[in-house]
Amino acid sequence: MADIPTTPRGNWDSKLGFILAAAGSAVGLGNIWRFPTEAASNGGAAFLLIYLACCFLIGFPVMIAEMSIGRSSKKNPVGAFRSLSTNKFFPLVGIWGVLCGVMILSFYTVIAGWTFSHVFVEIFVYAEMFEVASFLADFENGYVNAVFAILFMACTIGIIRGGVSNGIERATKLMMPMLLIILVIMTVYVLFQPGAGEGIEIYLYPDFSMIDMELILAAMGQAFFSLSLGMGAIITYGSYLGKKENIAEAAGFVTLADVGIAFLAGLLILPTIYMAQAEGVQIFDAEGNFLAGPALIFQLLPELFAQMGGITGLLFGVLFFSLLSIAALTSTISLLEVPVSYVIDEHKIKRKSAALYVGLGILVISLIISFNTALIDTIDFTFSVIGLPLGGLLICIFLGYVWKTENAIEEIKHGYENVKDTFFAKAWTVFVKFVCPLIILIILIQTIYNNYFSS
Ligand code: PHE
Repeated sequence: MADIPTTPRGNWDSKLGFILAAAGSAVGLGNIWRFPTEAASNGGAAFLLIYLACCFLIGFPVMIAEMSIGRSSKKNPVGAFRSLSTNKFFPLVGIWGVLCGVMILSFYTVIAGWTFSHVFVEIFVYAEMFEVASFLADFENGYVNAVFAILFMACTIGIIRGGVSNGIERATKLMMPMLLIILVIMTVYVLFQPGAGEGIEIYLYPDFSMIDMELILAAMGQAFFSLSLGMGAIITYGSYLGKKENIAEAAGFVTLADVGIAFLAGLLILPTIYMAQAEGVQIFDAEGNFLAGPALIFQLLPELFAQMGGITGLLFGVLFFSLLSIAALTSTISLLEVPVSYVIDEHKIKRKSAALYVGLGILVISLIISFNTALIDTIDFTFSVIGLPLGGLLICIFLGYVWKTENAIEEIKHGYENVKDTFFAKAWTVFVKFVCPLIILIILIQTIYNNYFSS
C-alpha cells in the first residue's frame, strides 16, 4: 500500500497531478466550442482583447483566491465558507455555486455528447455510410442527443466514483498534451488553406468600435467559464491540494494553458468559419447570430476533415473529436465533483452513492435539454455569463472583507515562503479587494440596467 492518503478526503498524488487536473477542468468545450463561437459573433479581435484582459486581470486573481480558500478549509464550497467564518450569508454563495455547477453540467453533457457522437460520424462518413452518419449528426433528434448524453454522463460518474487520484488524476495526465499536439497540427493546416486570410484578419485586427457593454459582459462570462471559476470547482480541487505546493504558480500555469489553448482554437475555427462563408455557406443571420446555433463547430469541422479527404481526414476527424471528448470529460468531472463533494462532506453520504445519485439527477435535466436544445442558450446565459461572475464577485468580497487577505496570504505562504514581501502579494491584495469586485460589479449592474431599465 504505497498510497496512504493523508486525509480521508483524498489528495492529489503529485503537484503535476493537481496542475493537470485543474488545467483539465479549465480546458474543455469552453475553449474549443464556446470561445471561438463567442469571438466570431462578437467582432473577433475586439472580443479576444477584452477576453484576455478579463482572464489575466480578473480570472487569475480569482483563481488564486479559490485555491487558497479550498486548501485552507479542505472543504467543498459550502463547507469552505462555513468553516472560514461565522458569517451566515456566505454558505449561500457556496450553494449558488453548486447550483451553477449543476445547471452548467446539464447542458455541457449534451454538447459533450455531440462531440462524442462525431467520432462515429467521421467513421461512417469514411465508410460512405452517409445515411447513418447524417442520422447521428442530426442535432434536432432528441433521441440521439439523449443516448450520447447518457453515455457521457455514465463516463463522468464512473470516474468520479473512482475518487481523486485514481480517477481524475490518471485520466488527465496523458490526454492534455495529446490534445495540444493535434490542435497545433490542425491550426497549421488551416492557416495554409486558401481563404483563411479573412478569418485571421477578423481574429487578430481589432475594430475597437465593436466594444460595447454586451461584448464586455460576454468576454467576462467566457473568461469565468473557461477558467472554471466562480462556482467552486477550483475551491474543491484546491481542497485536495497539499501544503507544499505553490498556489500562485499553479494558478499562473493553469491560466496560461487555458488561454493558450483558447487562442489556438480561435486561430483554427475563425478562419474555418470564414472559409466556409466564402464558399457560399450561410453562417450568420441578419443580426450576426449563427444560423446553426450552438451546433456550429460540429457542422464546420467535419467539412474540414472531408476536405482533407481519405484516410488523413478520417484520422484527424476521429482523433480530434476523441480528444475533444476527453477534454470535455476532464471538465465534466470537475463540474460533477462540486455537488458530489458537497453531498459527501455535508450529508455524510459515501462517494460512490453520492456520485451515482447526483449524476443521475443532473442527467434528468440533460435529457430534457436533449429534446429542447433551444434551452442551451438561456441556461448558459443565466448560469455562465451572469452566474459565474456573480459567484466570483462574492468570492472576492468574502476573501477581501470576511476571511481577510492576510489569512489568505498566510495560506499561500505554504509552498511560497517569502510571498508576504513580494510585489505579487501587494498587487493581488489590491486586485481581490478592489479591482476585481469593482469591475465585475460595474459590468453586471450595467447589464441589468441595459436589459431591464433602458428603452
Ligand atoms: N472550464 C470548462 C471549459 O472550458 C467548463 C467548466 C466551467 C468547468 C465551470 C468547471 C466549472 O470547458
